[in-house]
Amino acid sequence: MSSSVQVPPVVDGAIKTEALTYYTFKDPLKVATMDLKLDPAAAKSGDIVTPKQVLVQTKAASINPVDLCLKGLSSRFYKASVQKVMGGDFAGLVVKAGAESGFKAGDRVYGDIIKPFSSTGAFSQYLLFEPASIMFCNKIPEGMTYEEASSLCIASGTAFEALKTHKKSLKGGNVLVLGGGTSVGSHTIQFAKYFFGAKHVAATCSAKSTERVKKFGADKLIDYKKGKTSEINEILESVKEYGKFDIVVDSVRDPILYGYLDSTLKTKEEGGIFTQIQGSKSVNYSKIIVSDFLPQWQYIVEYIKEKIGLSKFQFFSLLETPDKEYGPAVEKLWKENKFVVTLDSVHDYKTETAINKVASASSQGKVVLKF
Ligand SMILES: NC(=O)c1ccc[n+]([C@@H]2O[C@H](COP(=O)([O-])OP(=O)(O)OC[C@H]3O[C@@H](n4cnc5c(N)ncnc54)[C@H](OP(=O)(O)O)[C@@H]3O)[C@@H](O)[C@H]2O)c1
Repeated sequence: MSSSVQVPPVVDGAIKTEALTYYTFKDPLKVATMDLKLDPAAAKSGDIVTPKQVLVQTKAASINPVDLCLKGLSSRFYKASVQKVMGGDFAGLVVKAGAESGFKAGDRVYGDIIKPFSSTGAFSQYLLFEPASIMFCNKIPEGMTYEEASSLCIASGTAFEALKTHKKSLKGGNVLVLGGGTSVGSHTIQFAKYFFGAKHVAATCSAKSTERVKKFGADKLIDYKKGKTSEINEILESVKEYGKFDIVVDSVRDPILYGYLDSTLKTKEEGGIFTQIQGSKSVNYSKIIVSDFLPQWQYIVEYIKEKIGLSKFQFFSLLETPDKEYGPAVEKLWKENKFVVTLDSVHDYKTETAINKVASASSQGKVVLKF
């Protein structure tokens, strides 16, 4: 066991933890002392955790648009009396581990604990959970910092799953990422090139993100801020040179390709797929309304056409749940020095500036809270 592992005191069957909380979307965030209730048998025996649980001391947590979306929609999900802890992605140190948890005290772990219809969240000094029951939990690859590891699960796991919607091999393939400057987009580029073996990756981003997106391995960068005509012309140029795309991953709901599918995307028979990451339509997470989560009308039309057999293209809308292959994929690329995690900024977990940065959808990488 590492000497820095410290088990917090148990008071009345619970561990006290400071957390970033809210009641409804109208409330400002508030740092509050919360109780992590122990399983009564574990509390009585002094074990703190059940055989399947771990207690983790949070070291870092990253903010995702979904955290702001859940806060924005919270009055519809929670009664005002429920104090909700914000956050999903975390990285931390296991301070207590049950015999059947798959972890031991001293392990450095990362994962995602998001639970939309509960009061549980990651922006808390301590986390108590069953690793097998949360979205994802794995050991941090050697040499990766807590801040980097906390930035992975939602954005990077989604990127990995998005590429897996392509059912054939992407080896030697051609990929287009709409929104290469987003956290999801940055990981899509890296996994496409270095894990799935794509030959060519084109990505849209603004001039501000160009240098950063090049580092992820993109071969062609298309500045979407130069206007629709310039954007589609550059995409068509890329197709002329490298052929139609095997997969398009749209992380920003850019409608640029609708109307050009025949000339840009491989058909369903050829394995082509257009995968849209579910998120907010406005790419501005400060004012979320429920209809923001509906795909654009162009996507809906194409999706329906496909379902009734009137389209030769395949459409898919993805909500992330990283699978068992995701952790080893990260580990592999990290060991091979082919995995870059970009942090926009690191903040004390009590500051609201971090949340506002993510809300503006202008962060250049992940915004991380330090505990
Ligand atoms: N369904 C899921 O499981 C899941 C998981 C993660 C994320 N998401 C969704 O995916 C989307 C991206 O999330 P994220 O966390 O990756 O974003 P992010 O890191 O906050 O993205 C910020 C970047 O987005 C780029 N951007 C903003 N507007 C753009 C536009 N119209 N076109 C192209 N790029 C634009 C900007 O780069 P430039 O300098 O290039 O403009 C900015 O630096 C969100 O809608 C989110 O909700 C969904």
